[in-house]
Amino acid sequence: MSEPRKILVTSALPYANGSIHLGHMLEYIQTDMWVRFQKHRGNQCIYVCADDAHGSAIMLRAEKEGITPEQLIANVQAEHSADFADFLVDFDNFHSTHAEENRELSSQIYLKLRDAGHIATRSITQYFDPEKKMFLADRFIKGTCPKCGTEDQYGDNCEKCGATYAPTDLKDPKSAISGATPVLKDSQHFFFKLPDFQQMLQTWTRSGTLQDAVANKIAEWLDAGLQQWDISRDAPYFGFEIPDEPGKYFYVWLDAPIGYMASFKNLCDRTPELDFDAFWGKDSTAELYHFIGKDIVNFHALFWPAMLEGAGYRKPTGINVHGYLTVNGQKMSKSRGTFIKARTYLDHLSPEYLRYYYAAKLGRGVDDLDLNLEDFVQKVNSDLVGKVVNIASRCAGFINKGNAGVMVDTNAAPELTEAFLAAAPGIADAYEARDFARAMREIMGLADRANAWIADKAPWSLNKQEGKQDEVQAICATGVNLFRQLVIFLKPVLPLLAADAEAFLNVAPLTWNDHATLLANHQLNEFKPLMTRIDPVKVQAMTDASKEDLTASQTDTGAAAPAGNGELAKDPLSPEIEFDTFAAVDLRVALIVKAEHVEGADKLLRLTLDIGDETRNVFSGIKSAYPDPSKLDGRLTMMIANLKPRKMKFGISEGMVMAAGPGGEEIYLLSPDSGAKPGQRIK
Ligand code: 2FM
Ligand code: ZN
Repeated sequence: MSEPRKILVTSALPYANGSIHLGHMLEYIQTDMWVRFQKHRGNQCIYVCADDAHGSAIMLRAEKEGITPEQLIANVQAEHSADFADFLVDFDNFHSTHAEENRELSSQIYLKLRDAGHIATRSITQYFDPEKKMFLADRFIKGTCPKCGTEDQYGDNCEKCGATYAPTDLKDPKSAISGATPVLKDSQHFFFKLPDFQQMLQTWTRSGTLQDAVANKIAEWLDAGLQQWDISRDAPYFGFEIPDEPGKYFYVWLDAPIGYMASFKNLCDRTPELDFDAFWGKDSTAELYHFIGKDIVNFHALFWPAMLEGAGYRKPTGINVHGYLTVNGQKMSKSRGTFIKARTYLDHLSPEYLRYYYAAKLGRGVDDLDLNLEDFVQKVNSDLVGKVVNIASRCAGFINKGNAGVMVDTNAAPELTEAFLAAAPGIADAYEARDFARAMREIMGLADRANAWIADKAPWSLNKQEGKQDEVQAICATGVNLFRQLVIFLKPVLPLLAADAEAFLNVAPLTWNDHATLLANHQLNEFKPLMTRIDPVKVQAMTDASKEDLTASQTDTGAAAPAGNGELAKDPLSPEIEFDTFAAVDLRVALIVKAEHVEGADKLLRLTLDIGDETRNVFSGIKSAYPDPSKLDGRLTMMIANLKPRKMKFGISEGMVMAAGPGGEEIYLLSPDSGAKPGQRIK
């Protein structure tokens, strides 16, 4: 037997100013299932989380409710903890970023970075609300879009035409907090010198720590050159004051990931056998994984490892990124009743239905996951009730009545039990790789085989025949053993079902290795129904109640549901655009006159493109698929010709060529049919 692994796992810290919804739950359920799998296998796996309690949004919400931020975060922490517990998300510790451990660690990390020369200061000019006497983040400024003239747009982008701009470009800007006209004001800010870590990040992000799609996205950012990161905010702000800098506070995103450490520290301080340094020290041999949504990749795969490196800590083993949740194929929507809070779901349905459905659809990629409510009912009823639980309920009665609840010592299907045993390593590999969908497919395949075997043996018919009772007992004991194996495989996903099954089976809590043994001459307890079918009426009641949750203060943004309701809630890979925005894109046929390597760039090729009336210089991240760029010379492709020129580390890129594929060697440059001419517009 190999030594148990030491693993520390986190999920993104939810903001302490809002309720948990089913979009959040995708991440917590995914992480919890992985952690439970590790524990089931006998590894030491510790799962910590916390509420993300700082920032101006929380300060302003508390003010609006007439309570202190401390009261607000205490209330929200109680609500979040209950939601997680009822969804069977079993944290080893759920803490808060507004805690002493986090203040100490944040100060210590900042001071180490400062003393090593990784902090810069300079004055920046920003909008300031003269009534509230505070600087305004972009989302607290509203005004008229400088491009299309639509009123009431946020300070960084227009929801109508998709334009992005600086808040100072907005016409008629107003503070969204007080309504006052903001004024420009200077203030000293503190910056983390991220470019100091360019080389380290280039290596670290390509060392198996990230999924390919994420590593490719990061490589684009790295190729474009890293910027210093503004880590300070001026008072008034709810957060930690920066050491030696009165009136300056750490930006919420500085101390949020340190909250992972702080939550673990808090746990260590009351758990003598846990050693903080063994997990976070530079030479730690423990594994460290962060589960996050794709909207917060930059914080976790760039800023965070750089902070850890600069402050002398170990870096994560892996950042596990997932996509967003859609419901019925669309973004969650309050008006459609598909913006479903965790508590609203729990008021109507069992947590294990959702845990199973998410597991059945979760692969290891960053694709969005759709909760189709009809499919949800159908799949849970068919797989869990119709296949898994059905095996036990078909067999238990005969054992109870025919043999006083004692399973006989006969294996009536040695080949099938052998097949279950042989499937175990593949199922374990799928869990380990976070390919829950594959694990569920394999488990349900086994359940199908068990059901088919029982149907073929038909103990209910045999039982009516004289002299067949021993055979009936052998079939049913075998059926219960197969059911027990399935329960062992499903336990990380369905801990309640497993606990109820353990009670029926009259066994101690099952662990993964128990799948290799069978029960024989064993007394069962009374069989009680282990799971009931989902009644579609309850699903309807849940969506109706979600519409009722709609209050005046909640606008229907139709926002997709990232893991956290974060500030960067947009999908960096596929934001939604208006038709007008699409129509404004100038797509052209382009002739690649020359394609060449760019010195010092990992991913980029320099393309000289002929688009009829002019020649363009475009940097494109396609090098991995075209290691010999000269092969592209003379080829036609398609380009976006009116993209704002972008200054990159290696020069200015004047447009973008179009390619498909997941990345790496699989990048396919698009081409028009023969006959197309350079410069022709694509319509
Ligand atoms: O996006 C969010 O919801 C953030 N509260 C996540 C923080 S994760 C970590 F870095 F703290
Ligand atoms: Zn606009």
